Amino acid sequence: MTELTLIVREAIAETPLVKAIVLGSADGAPLPPAAPGAHVRVALPEGGDRPYSLVDHPDHRDGGTWVLGVRLEDPSAGGSRFMHGLAPGDRVTTSAPQNNFPLHEDARPALLIAGGIGITPILSMAAALARAGRDFRLHYAGRARGQLAFLAPLARICGDRLACHYDDEPETRLDVGKALAEAPADAVVYVCGPEGMIEAVKAAAAGMGIAPERVRSELFTKAPAAGADDTAFEVELRSTGQVVTVAPGESIIDALEAAGVDVLYDCRRGDCGICQCDVIEGVPDHRDVILSDAEKASGKVMQICVSRAKSSRLVLDL
Ligand code: FES
Repeated sequence: MTELTLIVREAIAETPLVKAIVLGSADGAPLPPAAPGAHVRVALPEGGDRPYSLVDHPDHRDGGTWVLGVRLEDPSAGGSRFMHGLAPGDRVTTSAPQNNFPLHEDARPALLIAGGIGITPILSMAAALARAGRDFRLHYAGRARGQLAFLAPLARICGDRLACHYDDEPETRLDVGKALAEAPADAVVYVCGPEGMIEAVKAAAAGMGIAPERVRSELFTKAPAAGADDTAFEVELRSTGQVVTVAPGESIIDALEAAGVDVLYDCRRGDCGICQCDVIEGVPDHRDVILSDAEKASGKVMQICVSRAKSSRLVLDL
């Protein structure tokens, strides 16, 4: 992974739970460009890292800074508490931008739907669409007024193309079916937020005959919590025969890395598909949100960042 050492320029409280963290290079040199929907991984002091979408904030478009939006999770898995403790002058290590949630490039309109901190990649999409003079509408849902981050830049970017929805004000609540019905017939739909919102948009779109290709999503939650009944199991690598034990509460990726095995991954939430492996023997216990029910039932592939085993051993095509 390309590593960049960056300096915290600003840490701004957007809402009581969300901070905007502005990062710049130590010498003021330009940062790598990032397309809408891209994220970087920020290294945590206790090990591991967390992905954060890059926010195309209109006040930070000089090429020398990146803006991240970080919600303080409760209980924090470590990442968000570390990020919320950052102050100007602190150093952080990040990856180069990666993008699993790209915006389409043709002229079709876009319907953007964000829930909570899922606004971060969606804001960048809206900014790119607005700059290009392309047609879009953005629905932004949150728990209550005062809890929606980045509203000021969004108002500048979107104008009357922004609609806000508050869970505690029933008359404003997001009606997913209505939002889809009002969008142009060829609109590409982007949704980023909690799993329930993504499932609701996908289900409503399917019910309206919208092709799955036109509904694109990025999950914005922590990795699924370990189950109380999780037990240890073994993973055998087909290429070398090496056998690695995965402890309860440990992911297959963590166990493999601890054993010196290089594996590809990105989101670590069962959302991006990058860590997908072919299963040669054994029964996976699927905990991702990316495989279809049919793919899960086939047992032939699995996401090794979150999924576990129902059998005592898995043989993986690694
Ligand atoms: S790393 Fe994204 S699904 Fe596993």
